[in-house]
Amino acid sequence: MSTIKKAIIPAAGFGTRLLPATKSQPKEMIPIVDKPVIQYVIEEAVESGITDILMIIGKGKRAIEEHFDRNFELEYNLQQKGKIEELKVIQEISQLGNIHFVWQKELNGLGDAIRYGRFHVGNEPFAVMLGDTILESEDGTPITRQLMDHYEKYQSSVVALEEVPQELVSRYGVMGGRQISDNGLYKVDQWIEKPHPSDAPSNLVIAGRYIFNPEIFNLLEIIPTGVNNEIQLTDAMRLLLKDQDMYGYHFKGQRFDVGNKLDFIKTNLLFGLKRPEYQSDLQAWIRELAESL
Ligand code: G1P
Repeated sequence: MSTIKKAIIPAAGFGTRLLPATKSQPKEMIPIVDKPVIQYVIEEAVESGITDILMIIGKGKRAIEEHFDRNFELEYNLQQKGKIEELKVIQEISQLGNIHFVWQKELNGLGDAIRYGRFHVGNEPFAVMLGDTILESEDGTPITRQLMDHYEKYQSSVVALEEVPQELVSRYGVMGGRQISDNGLYKVDQWIEKPHPSDAPSNLVIAGRYIFNPEIFNLLEIIPTGVNNEIQLTDAMRLLLKDQDMYGYHFKGQRFDVGNKLDFIKTNLLFGLKRPEYQSDLQAWIRELAESL
């Protein structure tokens, strides 16, 4: 039995890197094949054993709420037309755990967004899952589940890490630490948000999934504004290191940051290729295209 039942999913950002697609549509609702990104994230949470999800949303994000609510009119319509498969698919979405919503009043950064979850989470360990990022694990066990298993063993906060080329570290939160096991676990001694590549302690970066002890909330209240004039979660993590052990987990798998255009296109192609009904057509088309380039 896991002690972690709650997750916070921040989904309030403007999605400026995907404009104009995100002018009136939340970036979390951008589809990958036929599901919005946020649904992949919620499915990962549910498959990991999370039963209680709090989404931090902002202006223009109502479509997210509606996506996870029931739509009786649509259900009735599908029923009448005998579209039973489609009916099943949309009914399943509204059964994906308990989802709650809270509005971030001003966009003050990721750290500020997480603060809104304090009263919902209470004094328990919890997960944070970025709403625009899909993580796929090599062995099929959801990455959040893998983090939860590490948490159960060490009772310490643990964060998913990805390796990136050194010149790209300035886009991310970066970890400093030492590897303590050959399954990718690191004991962390430093966190730094968006450092210059020459100041980065490693090229292992925060990949959008975290498990925290609840003490992180106290620290989020006292950290000053950080990089980009925002309240940075990474700054609170650095303070937490002074009081508690923290671990980083370099997971085996892939991260898809759907919030940027190139990754969005690649992710759609890749996920399309994984779908048996599109695989052979898509493969043939890509080969043909490659030869013509
Ligand atoms: C946020 C975090 C950063 C993390 C990144 C992962 O940055 O602040 O530590 O590495 O997500 O996507 P953002 O992408 O919001 O600038």
